[in-house]
Amino acid sequence: MTPSFAAPDAARASLTPAPSDVVAPVHRRLFGSFVEHMGRTVYTGIFEPGHPTADEDGFRTDVLELVRELGVTVVRYPGGNFVSGYRWEDGVGPVAERPTRLNLAWHSTEPNTFGLGEFMRWAERAGIEPMMALNLGTRGVAEALDVLEYCNHPGGTALSDLRAAHGSPHPYGVRMWCLGNEMDGPWQLGHLTAAEYGRLAAETARGMRQFDPKLELVACGSSGRSMPTFGAWEETVLSEAYDLVDHISAHAYYQLDGDDLPRFLASSLDLADFLDDVTVRADRVAARLGSPKRMSISLDEWNVWYLKEHMARMAGDPPADWPVAPRLSEDDYTVADAVVVGSMLITLLRRADRVTAACLAQLVNSLGAIRTEPGGPAWRQSIFHPFAQTAAAAQGWVLRGDVCGPLVPAGDRGDVPAVDAVVTWHPGDDGSDEGAPDGPRVAVFAVNRSVTGTVPLEVDLSAFPGLRLRRATLLQDDDWRAANTLAAPGRVAPRPHPDAALDGRVLRAALPPVSWNVLELSGAGRSAG
Ligand code: AHR
Repeated sequence: MTPSFAAPDAARASLTPAPSDVVAPVHRRLFGSFVEHMGRTVYTGIFEPGHPTADEDGFRTDVLELVRELGVTVVRYPGGNFVSGYRWEDGVGPVAERPTRLNLAWHSTEPNTFGLGEFMRWAERAGIEPMMALNLGTRGVAEALDVLEYCNHPGGTALSDLRAAHGSPHPYGVRMWCLGNEMDGPWQLGHLTAAEYGRLAAETARGMRQFDPKLELVACGSSGRSMPTFGAWEETVLSEAYDLVDHISAHAYYQLDGDDLPRFLASSLDLADFLDDVTVRADRVAARLGSPKRMSISLDEWNVWYLKEHMARMAGDPPADWPVAPRLSEDDYTVADAVVVGSMLITLLRRADRVTAACLAQLVNSLGAIRTEPGGPAWRQSIFHPFAQTAAAAQGWVLRGDVCGPLVPAGDRGDVPAVDAVVTWHPGDDGSDEGAPDGPRVAVFAVNRSVTGTVPLEVDLSAFPGLRLRRATLLQDDDWRAANTLAAPGRVAPRPHPDAALDGRVLRAALPPVSWNVLELSGAGRSAG
């Protein structure tokens, strides 16, 4: 289902948002990310004792600052594929007594010098909510209940007292738990059929709810739309676990294939179709069960990922060595990648009636929005910018407002709308956002997928009188392959928009080819008198 409608001969793109036409609130958990024990995400990523910026716990404060700037709200941990072979007990207690293990998922050595307790401390320092993933690959219900007790029980039991003995007397209060990871994937340790996993997820959830009925539990959906079991997997799993879980997960990665830039730029249409398909499958189970409950989607892994290149590097016999924190999938994200990430954020907002949590995978180094050098600097990848801008500016409510505009060819995806855009609106005056204007706020997020033509955008803001254009930025480059690197860490960044203005009640902006645009407006609030 295409999210916008289009007039093939239109010269401009237009939309008319209205405060009465609301999709859903801007769920803050849509701005989540992911820290997996993969490559250098943890070691020399967020954690590097001895780094010049490391704090007393070995956390890199240069990275912590960037994480805060990114606006991340929730972080999934500790995997990913890694979690399906992980023993959480290895990562707690005195560091000197922790075992070194193989990380089979990523063919590396896991020193376990960073584990559950370190993650919770890091999360607190970063100001984010932890989202824990459970090992339902090589382990099961008993271990899930153990780690839950260790994390969330106040005290007076073996595992809660152990946590206190490890230096954390207060429970962590983790609310959101993923019941395994990508259990539909044959690459996953302990991979199961849908029927087997549905039963295991249901029994794990049942046990966890005996501890705390208010937990939010995520059942594994499909690890991609192209999985042969996609659809049937969701229906089978949810038939077992519908009443016991709150979210069904979905994972979606996209990449530039060869030189097919037009097709790549249309990736978010595939994401929209994927989310719609999951919704249909979940609703079908609800109808069969006669349940009034509507399942939410947790898109707890999404990003641009150069997976084909990663697979090619991994092809052949596994190497003899098992390095600690090898460089894995540390791609330099381009301007085009940032535009695709921006368009996926637009899709997530537009699907916020069903998608209530999402995690950009991942946070640092491997597939990361942030890059680091061991002992050296940390910098923002191109994809950092659309994420940070959306997390900051998208407030209040997502408005429906379809875009009408020209079409562009997108390879075998056919013709697609050149412009995609979404509008958020905050009525203001609630005093909840310290430092933000307290009047009404409107934000327009727009991409131009055309690889050749600038497209004028017109947003009719008649329904929002009294606004002024507070900030307008553009992320674009004559070279769409431009990226931020160690040598040029600031090459790609948003800059003031050269061609955006509020003309009466119509906001106009010229959107250059392959561009990401953010237009922020606000009205006078109480403080303006
Ligand atoms: O994010 C990288 C990997 O992608 C995760 O470990 C896995 O869940 C997915 O396949």
